[in-house]
Amino acid sequence: MSDITISLGNNDTNTRQDATSDFISFWEKQAKNLSWFSSWDKTLDWNPPFAKWFVGGKINASYNTLDIHQKIKSDKPAILWEGENGESRILTYEDLWTRVQKLANALKSIGVQKGDRITIYLPMIPELPISMLACARIGATHSVVFSGFSATAIKDRIDDSKSKVVITADGGYRRGNVINLKEIIDEAIKDLDFVKNVIVVERTKTKLRLSSKDILWNDLIHDSYDLCIAEKLDSSHPLFILYTSGTTGKPKGVLHGTGGYLTHLYSTFKWAFDIKDSDVYFCTADIGWVTGHSYVVYGPLLHGATQVMYEGAPDFPDASRMWEIIQKYRITIFYTTPTALRMFMKFGDDLPNSFDLSSLRLLGSVGEPINPEVWKWYFKIIGKEKCPIIDTWWQTETGGMMISALPGLETIPLKPGSGTLPIPGIHISVVDEVGNELPPNTKGYLVIKNPWPGMLLTLWGDDQKYRDVYWSKYKNYYYSGDYALKDTDGYFWLLGRADDVLKVSGHRIGTAELESCIVSHHDVAESAACGIPDEIKGEVIIVFVVLKQNATTDTATLEKELIVKIRNDIGAIATPKQIYFVTRLPKTRSGKIMRRLLKAISSNETIGDVSTLEDDIAVSEIQSAFEELQKSIQKKP
Ligand code: WT7
Repeated sequence: MSDITISLGNNDTNTRQDATSDFISFWEKQAKNLSWFSSWDKTLDWNPPFAKWFVGGKINASYNTLDIHQKIKSDKPAILWEGENGESRILTYEDLWTRVQKLANALKSIGVQKGDRITIYLPMIPELPISMLACARIGATHSVVFSGFSATAIKDRIDDSKSKVVITADGGYRRGNVINLKEIIDEAIKDLDFVKNVIVVERTKTKLRLSSKDILWNDLIHDSYDLCIAEKLDSSHPLFILYTSGTTGKPKGVLHGTGGYLTHLYSTFKWAFDIKDSDVYFCTADIGWVTGHSYVVYGPLLHGATQVMYEGAPDFPDASRMWEIIQKYRITIFYTTPTALRMFMKFGDDLPNSFDLSSLRLLGSVGEPINPEVWKWYFKIIGKEKCPIIDTWWQTETGGMMISALPGLETIPLKPGSGTLPIPGIHISVVDEVGNELPPNTKGYLVIKNPWPGMLLTLWGDDQKYRDVYWSKYKNYYYSGDYALKDTDGYFWLLGRADDVLKVSGHRIGTAELESCIVSHHDVAESAACGIPDEIKGEVIIVFVVLKQNATTDTATLEKELIVKIRNDIGAIATPKQIYFVTRLPKTRSGKIMRRLLKAISSNETIGDVSTLEDDIAVSEIQSAFEELQKSIQKKP
C-alpha cells in the first residue's frame, strides 16, 4: 500500500519552523494559550535531569479546564456519560464547574491542604474527573489508581504517596458484574493509620459497611458551598502522581507538574485532533492510565470540547458497543488502542458496517505498536478511507504525545504502522548502545534529546531512581526504553520495549514485579516472566517457575495458587497465559536470567534470533542453555 494523504485543510508551516529554531521560545509561545494568574520570569530552568518550566508563573489546572469556559460555553456538554448498563448522564461545563467547587470546598472542610496527596480509586464515572479537578483546584496532588488493581497493589500506592484521603465508590460495573471497590479499599488501608478519610460515591448501591473514617460523597458535598476560588499555584506545583511499572521492583510514582504539562496537553490536543467546537470526541482509555489523565481529562477540557465517557469494557455486552456509541452520539474523533482494534477486527466487517459511522472525521491509536494490517482495516472499515489515522507514541513519563501525525497542524503522507514525525519542539533520535546516532532504517534505542514541557518532574520521593532509570544509560539523553527506527523520510517506526517491561493489551507490566510476587510463594525458589506475541493482546505473559527442593504441592494446585496470588497482589491484568515448571533457568555467567532466550523458546523463534540480542554471552553458551531448558520444560498438565 502506498502512503496515504488525507487533508483536513490545515497547513501551518510556521509552527514547525518556529520550533526548529529555538524550542524554548517555541514552547513559551504555546504556553501563552493558557490562562496564567501571573507570568513567568524564566521559561525553562534546566538543571539536568530536572526541568522546571515557566518558573515564577502561577497557574491552576482546574481554572484552565473549567472557569475559562464559563462565559462562552457554560451550557455546552463537557461529558456525555454512558454507563455500561445503558444509563446515561450529561454534564455541562457549568455542571462540572459547580461540582468541582463543591467537592473542593468539601475536601478543605475535612482538612485537605495544598500539597496533600489524595488517592482516587473510582470506576469510569463523572465523579472521577470531578475528584481530580477538585484536587487540582486546591493544590492537592491526585494519585489515581486504576480500578482493576488489587488491594495489595493499591495499598502500596497509598502507602508510597502517603495519601490522607481516599476517594472510592461502593462498586463499579465491569462486564455486567459488580466489583466491590469499597471492600478492596477497606482491605488496603487497614494498617494505614495516616489515611484519615474515605469518601464513598454510591454507584452500584451495594450494601456498605461504613466505619468512622468513611463519608458518603453525597453527604459530604450536600451543604458544601459551590464557590471555591482556584489556588494560584507555581507552574511546577505537582498536579499528579501516576504509578507505572518499570524494570525493577515496585511500580514507581511518575510525578507531573502543572504549567508545563498543561502547555504540552493544550498544544498536542489541538494539533493532533484538530479540535473544533462542533466535535464530539471519544477516547476509550480508562482514566486510571495516563491516556485517560491526559486525553480524557486535561486535554479535551482545556479546549472546552464535548466528549463521550464510557464506563465499561469496549466489548460489553457485545462487540458492537463502540460502533453503537459512535452512531448514537455522532462521534467525530475516535481514539482507541490496537488491542481493541484487533479484537473488533476479529468479529469481521459486517458488524461495524451495520452502523452509521459517517460522523467520524479523525481516528487515533495509542499504547502499543499498531500492525499495518490493523491500521489498514481501521482506515478502510471504520474511517471509510476518509479519516486520517494518528498513531501516537508517548509514555506515562512524557505526559503527552511525543510522536504523532498532526492533522490539526499540517498535512503529511501517512504510512500504516509508523507514528510519523516528532511533535514540534521535541528532538528525538535513534541511537546505538553508546549513544551514536544510527543511519536510517537501523533499529536502535529511542532517545529524547531535549527537555519538553510535559516531562515528568521526577519519581515521587526518589530523585536518584529518576536519574538512574531515565538519565544514566546516556549522558544527556532521556532513555525511553523503546526500540525504534527512523526511515529515510525521517518517519519513526516504534518496535516495542527494549527492556523488561511488558505491554499486555497496552497495559504496562514489569517482569520484576511479577517475579517478586511469584517467588514470595513458599514453594517457589526462582522465577522468570516474559512476554510472547499474541494476536489480539499484542503480548501475553509466560512465567517459568523453579520449585524449591522440598516443595510438596503438586504443580496443578501450585499453578492455581500462583494465579490467585498474582491476582491478589497485582491485579487480573497481570495474569499469565501459561506457567511452566522447570528445573533451572538459563543464566549468564554473572547470574542474570537470559529472559530474551526464554521469550524465543516460548515463541518458537530460532536461536539465531536471540544470540544477537545478548551481546555479552557466547552463542555456544546460549545454545547449551537453550537445549537444557527445552529438555527441562514440562508443559503444564
Ligand atoms: C509505552 C508507554 C502512550 C500512553 C499510554 C501508554 C508503548 C505507547 C505507542 C505507539 C508503539 C507505543 C511504548 C511506550 N507505546 N504508544 N503508538 N506505538 N508503542 O503509556 O503505559 O506509560 O506505556 O507504551 O512501549 O514506551 P505507558
